[in-house]
Amino acid sequence: MAKNEKVLVVDFGGQYNQLIARRVRECNVYCEIVSYRIGVAAIQAQNPVGIILTGGPNSVYEEGAPSLDSSIFDLGIPVLGICYGSQLMMHLLGGHVCKAPEREYGKTLVHTDAASPIFADVSRDTVCWMSHNDYIETPAPGFSVTAHTDNCPVAAVEQPEKRLYAVQFHPEVLHTREGKQMLHNFVYRVCGCKGDWKMDSFVETSVKALREKIGGGKVLCALSGGVDSSVAAAMLAKAVGKQLTCVFVDHGLLRKNEMEEVCEVFGPHGQFELNFICVNARERFYQKLAGVQEPEQKRKIIGEEFIRVFEEEANKIGAVDFLAQGTIYPDVVESGLGGESTVIKSHHNVGGLPDYVNFKEIVEPLRDLFKDETRQAGRELGLPEYLVSRQPFPGPGLAIRIVGEVTPEKVRMVQEADAIWREEIAKAGLDKTVNQYYAALTNMRSVGVMGDERTYDYAVALRAVTTTDFMTAEAAPIPWEVIQTTTSRIVNEVSHVNRVLYDCTGKPPATIEFE
Ligand code: XMP
Repeated sequence: MAKNEKVLVVDFGGQYNQLIARRVRECNVYCEIVSYRIGVAAIQAQNPVGIILTGGPNSVYEEGAPSLDSSIFDLGIPVLGICYGSQLMMHLLGGHVCKAPEREYGKTLVHTDAASPIFADVSRDTVCWMSHNDYIETPAPGFSVTAHTDNCPVAAVEQPEKRLYAVQFHPEVLHTREGKQMLHNFVYRVCGCKGDWKMDSFVETSVKALREKIGGGKVLCALSGGVDSSVAAAMLAKAVGKQLTCVFVDHGLLRKNEMEEVCEVFGPHGQFELNFICVNARERFYQKLAGVQEPEQKRKIIGEEFIRVFEEEANKIGAVDFLAQGTIYPDVVESGLGGESTVIKSHHNVGGLPDYVNFKEIVEPLRDLFKDETRQAGRELGLPEYLVSRQPFPGPGLAIRIVGEVTPEKVRMVQEADAIWREEIAKAGLDKTVNQYYAALTNMRSVGVMGDERTYDYAVALRAVTTTDFMTAEAAPIPWEVIQTTTSRIVNEVSHVNRVLYDCTGKPPATIEFE
């Protein structure tokens, strides 16, 4: 595959480090995250056009603090240090970093120097996000100060001859109002990038590369209907057509119309050439779930049954050359393969499949992409917007949005209620800002009155959260009218529901799902 110009983000363990890579890519420059532990030689061997040293939780002057050999600054490759990275640069090059008299945290007005390329087209007084206990007391020799705040005399420094730049604040977070411009300045003005990372050309080169790799081989793909597996399937279909077989298992726990939507796109009347198998396994799953209340047990049953169904289908097809997976870049980073992230992904929908399929190699066409890029690639491949902009949906599906026993009747209730809630959220234009929203069915029945009749029916819980990482979340402040409209529609349109509740709990202490 033709090589893109690449910026390397050297990770020192800060919480925003994936964001840095995302922002650089938004500037159309390819960017990868590596751990500082790989060392200078390995960094140089990747031939980056620029290097960004990230933030991190340590203090540079502590013994054993994460560091790099100072030869990183002699490679002739431009370097931008951010927060911890800026302090490390100063520390290694002879400046002085120490504990600040006052911790600086939050939005801060930064006064910038017009002459610095990093601050080109940036206001002289600009709001930046600061989060640091240490500060640069004295810059390293040869560096000049290019920004300061009222509390922090050295908010940015540079040594233009050696193309070394450092900022104390976080340009990658949106609270830094002109942060994207600063990163844009670094990659274009300092590193001289041309900006060759574009989704249309990514799709084109990937399709070509997949064709070469797969040759005449057979590929099997488990399609879940989610964004990642749909985009992977579309890309493979474009590359190798009928050599690809996609298996879609309808476990009877999908959202309303989801099966039909997937079949419309990937089925025989859809836009792609491929072999598509839709397995109706609803009854099998309902039978296995009958009488089961406990959430972990439900998850386990569904995971195992999914593998059984898939295995049966795979056996009908026989040996294949490749098993396709919709792994994306955050999965790679979060499983500890890039960067410093220690979060191990705990949600594997199809993670157990490789043990049960007869194949030679795994193919992961989206391994380099962030979620937004995956969606964009999906659009380039002609997938409909409702598929590419889908919110996260758990592998065990509605079973973990029904508290207590799962029955087909309860699945119907939650599907109907959820469809109404999603429709109303979209109608109110909230679907762009609320990160995940759905309806769950509680296990509570209570007395109500409908017409002249007493009812004894279920309560639906509406959930809507805002989050950036899905590890923590806040309940979204949905306007009351939207909740009211949704409530009256649900109690009128969904039989056996007589109450609607709104879940106001954040995560922690709750989880995003309702199980
Ligand atoms: P919780 O409920 O743990 O969810 O706060 C965090 C995020 O993960 C999603 N989730 C899953 N995704 N398989 C998945 O692919 C699963 O088993 C699963 N369980 C939870 C959840 O929807 C939320 O976005």
